[in-house]
Amino acid sequence: MAAQDGPKRLYIETYGCQMNVYDSERMRDVLKPLGYAPADKPDDADLVVLNTCHIREKATEKVYSEIGRLRVHKERRAGEGKATSIVIAGCVAQAEGEEIMARAPAVDLVVGPQAYHKLPELIARAARKTGERLAADFTAQEKFDALPARAPDGVTAFLSIQEGCDKFCTFCVVPYTRGAEYSRPMAAILEEARSLAGQGVREITLLGQNVNAYHGGGDFAALLEALARVEGVERLRYTTSHPVEMTDTLIALHGDEPKLMPYLHLPVQSGSDRVLKAMNRKHDGGFYRDIIGRLRAARPDIALSTDFIVGFPGETEKDFEASLQLVRDVGFASAYSFKYSPRPGTPAAAMMGQVDEAVKSERLARLQALLSEQQRAFNTAQIGRTLPVLVTGQGRKPGQAYGRSPYLQAVHFDDAQARPGEIASVRISAASQNSLSGARVSCATEAA
Ligand code: 5AD
Ligand code: SF4
Repeated sequence: MAAQDGPKRLYIETYGCQMNVYDSERMRDVLKPLGYAPADKPDDADLVVLNTCHIREKATEKVYSEIGRLRVHKERRAGEGKATSIVIAGCVAQAEGEEIMARAPAVDLVVGPQAYHKLPELIARAARKTGERLAADFTAQEKFDALPARAPDGVTAFLSIQEGCDKFCTFCVVPYTRGAEYSRPMAAILEEARSLAGQGVREITLLGQNVNAYHGGGDFAALLEALARVEGVERLRYTTSHPVEMTDTLIALHGDEPKLMPYLHLPVQSGSDRVLKAMNRKHDGGFYRDIIGRLRAARPDIALSTDFIVGFPGETEKDFEASLQLVRDVGFASAYSFKYSPRPGTPAAAMMGQVDEAVKSERLARLQALLSEQQRAFNTAQIGRTLPVLVTGQGRKPGQAYGRSPYLQAVHFDDAQARPGEIASVRISAASQNSLSGARVSCATEAA
């Protein structure tokens, strides 16, 4: 990086999952001491980081087209005598680092998800043109130990407790890009939660590829119990989890711990036992339904969310119908659904019976129509209820506040005085597919 006048500007573009959103925040924290102020657009930035996602083919393709655009900025700024450094981070960096370097000479540095703590040093070395451009060989433990303290922005925050995955679902690149599962020590997580709460955070979402496989000196239920005792933390959530790790204690906690919000994202991927087996999900549809039944017995109002993949190799119309049936049986408050995308190096990419793109699209449309209908019905069912809404900021219109329901719905309500961090009782009067609106009924603490 060349010396320049004024503060240096950093632009981070984030693709993919919440883990990447979290990682981007942490990269900002790491780079702040170097004097980087945020830029709104890549055009104005001295340092541009693309935090990439490798989970599906489309996400990966975006990286190369974005690098192409950035190269143009870089050349334009070079013409004005300004240097621009381009860093490719995230899962594509980890999986395709060598290829990126070969295909994109405009890229100054490629860093895998476990090397963010080294960014200042790596950027300095890249600027000295040492020829070293790839850093993908670190461990999650090393990274977590080295990252600086957090400075949260708002009353909700992610807290990464676990990273990587040992489940090896046959469609998934995560075990290859994020590596073997690593659980952070419980003491470090509690310390971070206390620090977040001390800075005004009221709702913490625990993050990881498989949070309920957590084993950092206690199991996941024990960690949740300890976090619920942290003063100032009013609400706890977690994502993502795996059905086979839903222990009896964890299910019971959903009924017993009021700080644990009644919302759970529990990916199922398919309703067909045959497909679930080929996916190596380690459970069948009956097992999933049983877990849902037990969760609802523990916490009757729990809102459920899930992930589906359509068009996995060998998926027949009958298999797909089984996914639709599972949706009808369970009833989801929200869901994400995707067309199967063959990922290089994963077992499913080499399986026989790859499904035609047109068939995948048609199945996805049918599944999404059903899921949208359920999401609208779930939101509409809140009309007339009074919900405890965590105020997170100002609403769209003047005099309006904005917040989150216990079921993770966005809520707009009239109240010019509402302060971020308070929990307001809001009577819901209208619902759309993606949000609720209503009016405040009183100053309240957590109501049922
Ligand atoms: N193709 C399509 N969807 C995928 N997912 C993971 N890998 C693939 C793939 N190869 C989906 C799963 C997972 C979510 C994060 O992304 O549904 O739960
Ligand atoms: Fe991927 Fe399966 Fe691990 Fe989830 S559990 S990250 S889908 S391998």
